[in-house]
Amino acid sequence: MQAWVIGNWKQNPATTNEVNELIDSLLSAIDERSNDLNPDICQLMVAPTAIHLAAVSARLQQTPLLCAAQDISAHSGTTGAYTGDCSAQQMADAGASWTLLGHSERRQYHQESADELLQKLTHAQAQQLGVIFCIGETQAQYDAKQTLEVLNEQLAVIKELLTQQPKLVKTIAERLIIAYEPVWAIGTGKVPTVSEVSATHEHIKQTVASFADELPEITVLYGGSVNTDNADSFAASPMIDGALVGGASLKAESFLTIASAFSRAKA
Ligand code: PGA
Repeated sequence: MQAWVIGNWKQNPATTNEVNELIDSLLSAIDERSNDLNPDICQLMVAPTAIHLAAVSARLQQTPLLCAAQDISAHSGTTGAYTGDCSAQQMADAGASWTLLGHSERRQYHQESADELLQKLTHAQAQQLGVIFCIGETQAQYDAKQTLEVLNEQLAVIKELLTQQPKLVKTIAERLIIAYEPVWAIGTGKVPTVSEVSATHEHIKQTVASFADELPEITVLYGGSVNTDNADSFAASPMIDGALVGGASLKAESFLTIASAFSRAKA
């Protein structure tokens, strides 16, 4: 199975100059690491802010890096009177081939509901945007041993999408990635053990496979304080197909060290 290492830039960097510097250093470091990084084994992707998306994707044409949006509008897949929103069509037009959906920061700060996520998934599929669907439990839910229950609830949106549109099975199989990100591990430096993550990923793969007969094994990434020190150990697990990287994706060196770990381990 192909590995994926995806940089979630969140609300960074501050300026267009800094965005360009980050891309310059990513592209030159990719060249230097050509022995280490095999794009056939490990696909690289970055998710800049909506304001930087078009410029970033223009610079990443003909490079091994794909571009993703961080979110899309729930209200319309195309155009409409939705001040402040950008649609799936607009993100795709700006150069995104994928979008993150359901990141815990959106669930927390924008009260994103299951209904909204279903709308977003529907719009993404209609505009041929692949989806990196983020799920994860809070610290309190982890402490109360409710992780799998919470994940099942979050994954039910995918089941609902397939119930509403059974024909999407093939698209889902090819264009849906799940990112398991325990909320308590994001930006905190705290991480679950590799065996905990592996068991959780196995559960996610089995759960999604149960949604439709023809669904092959789905790609599941781990996210939450992935860094240059722990990347090798996550990459070594056959259940962990890659990483969604926040903080460490803002420096070319650390992002590509993580990508190299997955490239080596999955070769
Ligand atoms: P982090 O963020 O790597 O900074 O913990 C991960 C994410 O939020 O996707």
